[in-house]
Amino acid sequence: MNATEPPRFAIRTFGCQMNVHDTEKMANLLLHAGYAWAESAEDAELLIINTCSIRDKAEQRLYSDLGSLRDWKTASPDRVLAVAGCVAQQQGDHILERFNHVDFVVGTHNLRWVASMAEAAGEGCRSSRVDETPSQDRFDLPERHSGFTSATPGRSFVTVMEGCDMFCTFCIVPMTRGREISREAARILEEVSALATTGVREVTLLGQTVNAYGRHDVRRGHTAQRGTLAFAELLARMDAIPGIQRIRYTSPHPSFYDDALIRAHAELESLCPHVHLPLQSGSDRILGAMRRRYRAGDFLRLVDQLREARADLAITTDLIVGFPGETDADFRETLRVVEQAGFVDGFSFKYSPRPGTQATQSDLPEVSEKEAQARLETLQEQLRSQTLSYHHSRVGEWTEVLVEAPSRRGGGQWMGRDPHHRVVNFELPAGSLGAGQMQSVQVVAATPHSLIGEASPENGVFEPDPLAVSGVTPPSPHAAGSGNLRLVTID
Ligand code: SAH
Ligand code: SF4
Ligand code: F3S
Repeated sequence: MNATEPPRFAIRTFGCQMNVHDTEKMANLLLHAGYAWAESAEDAELLIINTCSIRDKAEQRLYSDLGSLRDWKTASPDRVLAVAGCVAQQQGDHILERFNHVDFVVGTHNLRWVASMAEAAGEGCRSSRVDETPSQDRFDLPERHSGFTSATPGRSFVTVMEGCDMFCTFCIVPMTRGREISREAARILEEVSALATTGVREVTLLGQTVNAYGRHDVRRGHTAQRGTLAFAELLARMDAIPGIQRIRYTSPHPSFYDDALIRAHAELESLCPHVHLPLQSGSDRILGAMRRRYRAGDFLRLVDQLREARADLAITTDLIVGFPGETDADFRETLRVVEQAGFVDGFSFKYSPRPGTQATQSDLPEVSEKEAQARLETLQEQLRSQTLSYHHSRVGEWTEVLVEAPSRRGGGQWMGRDPHHRVVNFELPAGSLGAGQMQSVQVVAATPHSLIGEASPENGVFEPDPLAVSGVTPPSPHAAGSGNLRLVTID
């Protein structure tokens, strides 16, 4: 490194959208502290691995990465290696003890310290910070630095709450993300307004159980003192912000839908017709053992109510097969509910025992690996067929796509997402702005993974809001696939 050049950083990201957004927050903090983006780990003086521990495979990924990074670290005395995210929160000092080439460990509640910890590490001080406080400090982060290039022009994640108090018996998240804490509504709305002035048209509100936002304060009548609101009210205020055309939220828990939130899907123009609603299992017995706090019938009633509010709502889900004690009959219930709910897509996983979770202490019989694999394949086949028939049902429709990036299909095509969160591949008409613009597209064909669209110049680009378009960030060199802000999916 030249003495006059700023130190460069790279971040590898595993896990969910919360982790992707935490990576963005750390990147922004480092830019404010005078660091610059590196093109790859090879060019970086600081490398952070932002980890996930939702399933064993995800956690193991960190350990194999750390093994292969010994050479990276020793190649230059200036290099600093850090571990962040959910494994960091869980393991803390153990990571420093086990891997002497790791310089610091920053947990999920302490992102704001990343630059000072990196600096201390540069001076030879190895440290870890995994403490948790119930204060709003963790949300107190600087605005986007002028050098911050979003991997998703036109779109942004916005944290509204963190942590989880649900303690589903299979899940490690309450241990890695701590207790539920809701961010002050005024700060959230300020952030969204600021984003809108820089060209962001779509916001995805994030929280481990995002629709539990403010619930403790609402129940105790403390919203005024705590600066929170009911979730539906927060959505309504966001809907009124000029320039914000799309609002999404993830992941909601089925237990926290009230009438106001269901009605919001009928009434708020910018609230997208898509909900990712994790079911986990269709068997009441297994749902009870998972401590999901709803039965299959409650879930299906909620799906009906949401569809009554918004007939074209696309619902996606998460499912686990092979939870201890799951019989063939339980699994058939899952297949039945998946069909009845009419999911348009879903993520499905084999149960993975996580240390410290209640399910690992149960005396329910384990499902064999072979059986779990067979159930996973059957479930995925059913989900694939539901996705394909949904895609076929969309052929002929006009839809609006927020353009994201050149398509993986090549041939000069671009991809983006429609309001239903479906991927649409299409050719942009000449003279288009590219990533970050809204484009009207007609669906002309369906594939198992995406819709194929045709953009017509007459029905072309939605009249851009001049205020919003002035700050559109060009497709970033850090966009998905180029190494830094990268969502690595494991399974
Ligand atoms: N907060 C969300 C879930 C977040 S974790 C909710 O309440 O639904 C994302 C998904 O990972 C879960 O929905 C679940 O399907 C899966 N998952 C979580 N723990 C798991 C485990 N131990 N084994 C397999 N899948 C798991
Ligand atoms: Fe995990 Fe359940 Fe909390 Fe979701 S609600 S994060 S599955 S404990
Ligand atoms: Fe997300 Fe993985 Fe943590 S799914 S909350 S990064 S354990």
